[in-house]
Amino acid sequence: DELSAMRRALLAWYDDGGRTLPWRVRPEDRAKGITPDPYAVWLSEIMLQQTTVPHATPYWRKFLARFPTVTDLAQADRDEVLAMWAGLGYYARARNLHKCAGVVADDHDGVFPLTETALLKLPGIGAYTAATIAAICHDEATTIVDGNVERVISRIFMVQTPLPKGKSDLRALAAALSDPTLDGFERPGDYGQAVMDLGATVCTPRSPTCGLCPWSGDCAAKAAGVQTDYPKKTPK
Ligand code: ADE
Repeated sequence: DELSAMRRALLAWYDDGGRTLPWRVRPEDRAKGITPDPYAVWLSEIMLQQTTVPHATPYWRKFLARFPTVTDLAQADRDEVLAMWAGLGYYARARNLHKCAGVVADDHDGVFPLTETALLKLPGIGAYTAATIAAICHDEATTIVDGNVERVISRIFMVQTPLPKGKSDLRALAAALSDPTLDGFERPGDYGQAVMDLGATVCTPRSPTCGLCPWSGDCAAKAAGVQTDYPKKTPK
C-alpha cells in the first residue's frame, strides 16, 4: 500500500543519503552483523537533546574515551562528570546521566534494558529517548517523535492543529507510518533515524530541498506550495 511504499522509498534514500554519525551503525555495517552499543547511543541522544551534532560530537568522543562503559561512568565522581559536561548546558541532564548510569550498573548488571517500556523507567529517559534507543539498538518498532519528525509529518499530511495541541495528531500519523503490522517494516531502527535525518538535512524549517526528498510526491504541503507554513504553531 501507499504507506509501505513510502517506507521503502525512505529506507532507500537513507541507504546512501542518510548521515554518517560517529555513534551510528550504517546500514552496510548492520548487514555485516555490527550492532550499536546502547550506552554510546544513549549518551549521544541525551547530548543531542540540547545541542547540535557538531557541538555534541567532541563531548561524545571525550565521554566515551574517559568512560568506555556505563559502569565506568557510574563509578566516576559526579563532580568530574559535571566538569566534563561544561559547555553543554542543562546540568540537570548531566546529573540524571550519572544517576542513570548508576541504576544501569547496579540494577541491570551494566547492561541497558532492551525494551522501550523498561528504558522508560530509567532516570532522565523520557518517551523520545526510550523509543529511539529501543528502535536503534534492538529494532523494536517504536514510534519516534522529535522536532524533526513533527516537521516532516506535519508537511506530508498538512496537519492543521497547531503545536503544541497538534502533538497527538502528529504522533498518531507517525505511528501509522511506522505500523509494524504493515508489510516491509523490517528495519525500524534505520527507519526512525531516516525520518530524523530527513528533517535535519532535507525537510528543514526555512528552505527545504524538496528536490532531494524521497517523499516529495507524497507531500500535501509541497503540492500546495506551502511547506514552510508547517508545522503550524500557536502564536506566543
Ligand atoms: N537527532 C538526534 N538523534 C538522532 C538520530 N538518532 N538520528 C538522526 N537525528 C538525530
